[in-house]
Amino acid sequence: MRMDDGWRPKPYKIKVVEPINLPPRSERERLLAEAGYNVFNLKSQDVYIDLLTDSGTGAMSQAQWAALLEGDEAYAGSRSFEFFRETVQEITGYPYVLPTHQGRAAEHVFFAVTVKAGDIVPNNSHFDTTRANLLALGAKPLDLPIPEAFDPELEHPFKGNMDVDALKAVLRGNPGRVPFVMLTITNNTLAGQPVSLANIRAVSEVAHAHGIPLILDAARHAENAFFIGEREPGYQGKSPAEIAREVFSLADGCLMSAKKDGLGNIGGFIALRNEEVYERCAEKLILWEGFPTYGGLAGRDLAALAVGLREALDPLYLRDRVGQVRWLGEELKKIGVPVYWPPGGHAVYVDAARLLPHIPKDQFPGQALVCALYLEGGVRAVEVGSGMLGEAAKLELVRLAIPRRVYTEEHLRHVVRTFAVILEKRESLRGMKLVAGSGPLRHFRARFAPL
Ligand code: F0G
Repeated sequence: MRMDDGWRPKPYKIKVVEPINLPPRSERERLLAEAGYNVFNLKSQDVYIDLLTDSGTGAMSQAQWAALLEGDEAYAGSRSFEFFRETVQEITGYPYVLPTHQGRAAEHVFFAVTVKAGDIVPNNSHFDTTRANLLALGAKPLDLPIPEAFDPELEHPFKGNMDVDALKAVLRGNPGRVPFVMLTITNNTLAGQPVSLANIRAVSEVAHAHGIPLILDAARHAENAFFIGEREPGYQGKSPAEIAREVFSLADGCLMSAKKDGLGNIGGFIALRNEEVYERCAEKLILWEGFPTYGGLAGRDLAALAVGLREALDPLYLRDRVGQVRWLGEELKKIGVPVYWPPGGHAVYVDAARLLPHIPKDQFPGQALVCALYLEGGVRAVEVGSGMLGEAAKLELVRLAIPRRVYTEEHLRHVVRTFAVILEKRESLRGMKLVAGSGPLRHFRARFAPL
């Protein structure tokens, strides 16, 4: 036995616990039917291991809980806002900071000021609310991932990258119609894959050569920084905070859901270099979210987020976090589950089309797998395929998103065992029919029926 082989237990111990419960199988059958075979309609008390999302579901640290008590709830000029703003300024280098109640509110406010009908917004891949917010303004969200991203088996360090040549063609062909270019780090819609610094730099140069700003969707920027430090030549030994600072330096601003790499249960922000755009966003913010020193959040939330935003860049935390996701991916692969490879930063994505090849795309193989996971193990996952993305779906994925600092290896072992059961009976799984739900956000409220 050697102690220097790199293996480490979690860099924290548990202080508060929340009981979880696995309802009997007959109950799960009934609950799933009542939910219209859409796990968004399940009650959390009926879910055993909840991998629906990593958003707002993390466990706060003792330092965050302590910060809550110091929250300053003043309507204007809150001390907690100052603390939050200084933290965001330090991490991003952007001077102008507006808090919002979550990421989609940041999108709503920022897009209302910068986007008009007929505009085109390129991104490596838009998240579903980003896409829907742009569509609501009559703009066109355009996804430009690298072609390698669509091969779930291809080993590639940065499958979240944007196709720079495709971006050049879009910018050349549409003068005056692109208000900004976006990059989502990591790329949630495409398996949580990271974007390299070289790609961010190239996208930044192309956008700036056309006089167009680059805006980051920074929801999972800390996990992205960890991957850069691990995989990109020249960045080994640099801290995630240093890498993040370099990433932000290449862009003109960011929108962030702080429910992911802010380690908060709620919150988000807009951070910008441009004062004029900031002023116009502040006006909309007051109308929709709240005064610019709280933006729809309690002062205590801002205080906890300020602590969380820093903790998320801690190298020991990130190593454990990304390592746990990788562990689940590797264990699933070992038993023969077709996992999108390599695993992403916040989630393992399973290729439902390959797991259930007898179920055609229009019968939602991903949704069939999501239902089987609940039925067999009380595990809640989410479909990212034809159910969520409609015709635009190129892959039929099921996302197992891991909440931050919440589950142990034993919990994830239960997920692996659930998959083992499903693998044995996969031929008996049937497809699904969509019976209710429409529009770009239909997956949240859709109802299905088994075929
Ligand atoms: N951008 C990305 C990349 C996201 O993943 C999300 C949310 C948002 C924006 C919107 O942020 O939820 O705070 O309004 N993603 C969650 C998920 C919901 O499950 O992936 P929000």
